Formats: sequence, C-alpha cells, structure tokens
Amino acid sequence: MGRRLRVLIADDSAPTRESLIRLLSFHQDFEVVGEAADGEEAVDQARLLQPDVILMDINMKPVDGITATEVISTEMPRSVIVMMSVQGEQEYLRQAMAAGARDYLTKPFGADELVNTLHNAYERESRRWLQVVPGSLLPEHQGKVITVFSAKGGVGKTTIATNLAALISHELEKAVIIVDLDLQFGDVPVLLDFEPRRTIIDLVERTEWGSEEVRGCLHQYSQHLKVLAAPVRPEEAELVGGSHVKQLIESLRPLADFIIIDTAQNFQEPILAALDESDEIAIIATLDIPTVKNVRLCLDVMQGVLEYPVDKTKLVVNRDAEDIGIKADFLEEKLGISICAKIPSDGRLAVQAANTGVPFVLSNPKAPISQGIRDLALEIAGGEDLTAASWTGAANQGFFGKILHRLRA
Ligand SMILES: Nc1ncnc2c1ncn2[C@@H]1O[C@H](COP(=O)(O)OP(=O)(O)OP(=O)(O)O)[C@@H](O)[C@H]1O
Ligand SMILES: [Mg+2]
Repeated sequence: MGRRLRVLIADDSAPTRESLIRLLSFHQDFEVVGEAADGEEAVDQARLLQPDVILMDINMKPVDGITATEVISTEMPRSVIVMMSVQGEQEYLRQAMAAGARDYLTKPFGADELVNTLHNAYERESRRWLQVVPGSLLPEHQGKVITVFSAKGGVGKTTIATNLAALISHELEKAVIIVDLDLQFGDVPVLLDFEPRRTIIDLVERTEWGSEEVRGCLHQYSQHLKVLAAPVRPEEAELVGGSHVKQLIESLRPLADFIIIDTAQNFQEPILAALDESDEIAIIATLDIPTVKNVRLCLDVMQGVLEYPVDKTKLVVNRDAEDIGIKADFLEEKLGISICAKIPSDGRLAVQAANTGVPFVLSNPKAPISQGIRDLALEIAGGEDLTAASWTGAANQGFFGKILHRLRA
C-alpha cells in the first residue's frame, strides 16, 4: 500500500493501548498517531489529528465509544471507526454500527485479525467515497491565501486576522485556517483563548512533511476554523525559514477554503515568502501621519521591488473615527490606492474580546466594528471564490443576508 495509515487508539485501559501500539508497531503500513482514554478525548484527538482509522473501545468512562462514534462520524466522516468489544456486547455493537462504526473486533484478537480488519475497513471506505464523491481522494479544497500585514506594529493585524477568520468560518461556514506567522510574539492563541499543543516548529523540525502532517499540527477552534500556532518561545522563530513558509502554504491550500495569515511588521524571509504566496494582502493602516509614511514605503516595496500586481494589495483602515486623525480621502490621495474597508474604532469591544478570548464578530455580531470586518470579508473573501450557494445559505443567517440584499439592491 502507499502511505502509512494514521491510527488513533481509544481505550480506557492503558495496558490495552500499549499492547495495541506494540502490535501495530511491527507492521509498516500503520502509524499510531494518538491515544485516548475515553470518548471525549477520542473526539478531541480525532479533531486534532484527523486519523485515517480509529480503533475505538465500546465501553469507556465517562464518555463511551458509541457517543464518540456518533460525533466523529458526523464531523469527520473520512476517519474510519473500528469498534472493539468483548463477547456479550452485541447490543452495544449494533448501536455502534448504527452510529457510524465501519467494522468491529471482538477481544481478544490477534495481530493478523487486527491488521486485516483495519486494512479492509479503510479500503472499503475509500472505495465507497470514490463512488459517492467522485474525486474525493483528490484535494478537497484549493484555499485562497490572505495575508494580513502592516508597516507598523500595534495597528490591529491580529485583531483583524482572528475576527476575519472567525467571521468567514462561522457565518459562511467556509473551512478556514488561521496561521500565526508573528513568529516571535504570536498571540493568535491568546486572542482565541487556547494553549497550543503543537506549533509550526513541530513541522519544520521534520525532514519531510506535507498536508497530512500539517493537519496533525492544527488546533480545532470551532467546527470550520483551525489554527496553526506560532512557536511558543521567541528564540524558536529563527528555525522557520522562507522555504518552510512556502512549503507550509502549499500544504495548507488543499485543507481549507481560506488561509488567513497573521504577520509581524517586517520584511524578513518567512513574511516575504507568505506575501509572495498570497492571493491577496490586506495592508492595515491607521489614520495617523507615521502610518501613512510607512504604508507608502510598504506599497513601494510591494509594487516596485516585488512587482506584485496592483489588485493583490488591499488597503484597510483600522480604528476609523470621523472626529480624530487624518481623513480617509487624504490617505487615499497620499497613497494612490483606494480604501477597501474601514473598521471602526471600538476600544471597549476590542479589549473585551482580547480578554475573554471570544472574537467580537461572534460575541457582538451586530456591532459596527463587526460590520467593518464583515465588509472586509466581503471585499477579500467575496467574488468568485464564494459560490452563489454559500451566499444564499448565508442569507438565512442574519447579517450576511442583509449584505446580500444590499449587494443586489
Ligand atoms: N478597531 C479597533 N478599535 C479599537 N481598538 C482596536 C481596534 N483594533 C485593534 N485594537 C486594539 O489595538 C491593540 C493592538 O491590536 P493588535 O494586537 O491586533 O495589533 P497588531 O498589529 O497585531 O500588533 P502587533 O504588531 O504587536 O502584532 C489591541 O489592544 C487591540 O485591542
Ligand atoms: Mg499581532
């Protein structure tokens, strides 16, 4: 067979898990990528690791294997679940198969039986997918890459990147991955309130990696939003080079509809690679003179030195307020580029979102600041990349319906 099958083992007995790992370690077709001690952990691990096959014990506490099977087979139908039971659990087994398990093993079982059952269940399922969804073994997505950049620190890049990702994934139900490329001081996990278990470093340390390995390093934030975290320690940043970022973006494209990259304000190799590979760059500016100067320099580099097409760069004004700062049309005139979206200033909501770890587009979707993010999403994530069906579906979901209405008016 081609690549090794990635297996997750869920059993509440540690010795059983160990002996299964040992059995599979003798077989070159399998790689045990994770373990779980109950159903809840199995769901978490499955979300994180997206295994090919899950060996799932029926009876686990507090959350059993049937409950986990129900969740996993709905959320991750490509992960094939093989149940493990003991004699006398026929009724449970029936329930597990009804919940979405594809095969079962009755304990105790030998190595050959284990290997054959895993192989057969996976191959049967792959054939079924090919029939049901022609081309389903081909990449599922061809993600659009949007980098959020600025020529100055503290202008709101991370705030905008996280809220944009949350909005596109939540309201449009598009698969989104946010990548934290602020390699020294990345704070996407802080703004989304989770502690990364894996980071970009887990990838670059490998000699070979691609989409499957990247998938294993993503944190599942919500149903449609995943995150690749920056290194935990600032000194690890230098381990990431431009070629890593290029490879990373190539590996990410098949995994999502949109890849949103948060950056630090520099033109070093990793960020340059991200800018090169991006379909669009959102340049964040605030309405003050130093920012105007820096954005001008930044546009000079992108258009003059790097020779990016003019429509690759989009100017976004953050902390827009009519009464203070320079006027937006002055900015447009000085920069020779029109503003694509304006995000209003709302210190209270921005800080509250940062402190609670919930993006304001989710906690306060009707606030003007959220509407600003929605306008930006429409500008950079809209167009031909979003099918009419997505917009129509979204039309039933409140605000996007109003935007659609406005667009059509
Ligand atoms: N539209 C807004 N209205 C009010 N405050 C905002 C707005 N956008 C961002 N802020 C606040 O500005 C500060 C800087 O925001 P953020 O961390 O997103 O900027 P950044 O460009 O990512 O910074 P860095 O360069 O340090 O990575 C934060 O305190 C944030 O809450
Ligand atoms: Mg930031």
